[in-house]
Amino acid sequence: MTAPKPLTVPDLRERKAAGEKLTVVTCYDALFARLLDGTVDILLVGDSLNQIIAGHETTLNATLDQMIYHAAAVRRGATRSLLFVDLPFLSYQVSVEDAIRNAGRVLKETGAHGVKLEGGEAMAATVQALVRIGVPVMGHLGLTPQSVHQLGGYRVQGRERSQADQLRSDLRALEQAGACSVVLELVPAALSAELSRATAIPTIGIGAGPGCDGQVLVLHDMLGLNEGFQPKFLKTYADLAATVREAALAYAAEVRGGKYPGKEHSFE
Ligand code: KIV
Repeated sequence: MTAPKPLTVPDLRERKAAGEKLTVVTCYDALFARLLDGTVDILLVGDSLNQIIAGHETTLNATLDQMIYHAAAVRRGATRSLLFVDLPFLSYQVSVEDAIRNAGRVLKETGAHGVKLEGGEAMAATVQALVRIGVPVMGHLGLTPQSVHQLGGYRVQGRERSQADQLRSDLRALEQAGACSVVLELVPAALSAELSRATAIPTIGIGAGPGCDGQVLVLHDMLGLNEGFQPKFLKTYADLAATVREAALAYAAEVRGGKYPGKEHSFE
């Protein structure tokens, strides 16, 4: 039996046209990449790693070197899923030249297939320049975490008419600029369904309802590792926090009680 052909960037639009949902999770290291490879369509090295892995409050101080380090590790673990990498704050907003140089570094130094960046109309020229030199770009609209202070927190975007109109214009601008897909984060379900119908590029929702063309979740949230983070949109598919804690307590008890290591774990 031959293995299924790996997904390519141009396939993304075809999957949408065929009505097939796209599956995306974040991934930050080689070990999880090996476990996840081929289970979902796209692995995203999100700048959420700055919160999940590095323990910061926001994504704002993630660096390009940090993103490249994690993305290269993910690439070493995954050969089948498509790999996209977030361009961190200030690595693409200052100038188009900066964006090209930094997105180029991501592709050259990690082996990723494309980059993700936040913003719509304001980023259209940058997206167009990247696509023109062969860098696939995934957009990101709605709650854009790199603008968390401007937005006043991690809250639903698009409830007001002016916000919804801006989202429509932003999506149109990204599509025209050549983006291959777009994340819609914290957008009311009816609006994201409307936006998804209005564009030929796949929308990938997080907290944006079932009408999107695909879904993305942060891996550690989805696995129940990020205790205390329980937004309405999140479904946890495992309770690994409890498993980890139980395992650590069992190990500590066995060491303290002289039960581990046993003979079978010791060398002659
Ligand atoms: O940084 C990230 O993980 C993301 C996803 C939540 C879409 O942008």
